Amino acid sequence: MKLTIVSIIVAAFWEAAFGVQGGITSIFRPLSEPAQEIKATSILVLAICAVIFCIVGGLLVYTIVRYRHRAGDEASEPPQIYGSNQIETAWTVMPILIVFVLILVTSRTIVDIQDRKPAAGAVYSTVVGHQWWWEIRYPQLGIVTANELHVPASTNDNYQPTYLKLQSADVAHSFWVPQLAGKTDLIPNRENLMWIAPTQPGTYLGNCAEYCGMQHARMLIRVIVHPPAEFERWVAEQKSVAAEEPGAQEGRRVFFANSCVNCHTIRGTSAQGAFGPDLTHLMSRQTLGSGAAANTTETLRAWLRDPQKLKVGCLMPNMQLTDTEVDQIVSYLQTLK
Ligand code: CUA
Repeated sequence: MKLTIVSIIVAAFWEAAFGVQGGITSIFRPLSEPAQEIKATSILVLAICAVIFCIVGGLLVYTIVRYRHRAGDEASEPPQIYGSNQIETAWTVMPILIVFVLILVTSRTIVDIQDRKPAAGAVYSTVVGHQWWWEIRYPQLGIVTANELHVPASTNDNYQPTYLKLQSADVAHSFWVPQLAGKTDLIPNRENLMWIAPTQPGTYLGNCAEYCGMQHARMLIRVIVHPPAEFERWVAEQKSVAAEEPGAQEGRRVFFANSCVNCHTIRGTSAQGAFGPDLTHLMSRQTLGSGAAANTTETLRAWLRDPQKLKVGCLMPNMQLTDTEVDQIVSYLQTLK
């Protein structure tokens, strides 16, 4: 545990110092607005704490070395001194002042981030935490997807932030994509808000940051930041309903004959379940099971054969499908592009 923490810290500083990306997403390399402000505040807080650490640690080391036991020292105790108003006042007032500075700096950042009014052209999304996946809705756009939040990049002349409403369907979760923004919890019967305004297109990794049960560690988020025009294309693709491909009719029949439809929605069909992820454009997603595995034919097969093998404890039961049924459903699902 200790080793992991140390290696994460070392990796983060390594990245910050040398710009080497080790696959760890770092708060020290923010690429979106709230994260940049948070980094500036963190650096100031860390610097103040580092100065305190050096003074206290330095004095401690100096005292240990300078006054260590030496051969020939007298065995008797040195004179004991009690009470010094000056020193006691100093070590009471100084920490109060330091803590006060930290409070002011931190609250200024928090207020500044929370007070930001939605800009014109902003994208709105509702993220619902489930055990253990993310439901992602765009109410204005009529899109529902899962585990991958797609947003437009903000450019100099087109500021396009994304506002997120965070909700939970079961227990408390926490949405955290370190390079984009701070953590915000998703709490049952409550709605939290956050926003991001990334400037660089790319894929940003994040995870659930609040322990939420057995598969908390496999509740990964991907934020895909598109150049504005590409985002429009993605929206248009996601808005379309499921196409019916003639080659997949048998798989389609098997899918609808089983209870898949009780939990999953495929827009444009009678599958309207709301417990599991929307599958309308399943193949447009990079992973299965919220980052549990890459979305490939092989893993999709393995998932249908027994989801409990890939993600122990997940709410999708083993449907006891035969190999033929698995193949048929996979070929149908693969038409959901
Ligand atoms: Cu969801 Cu931890």
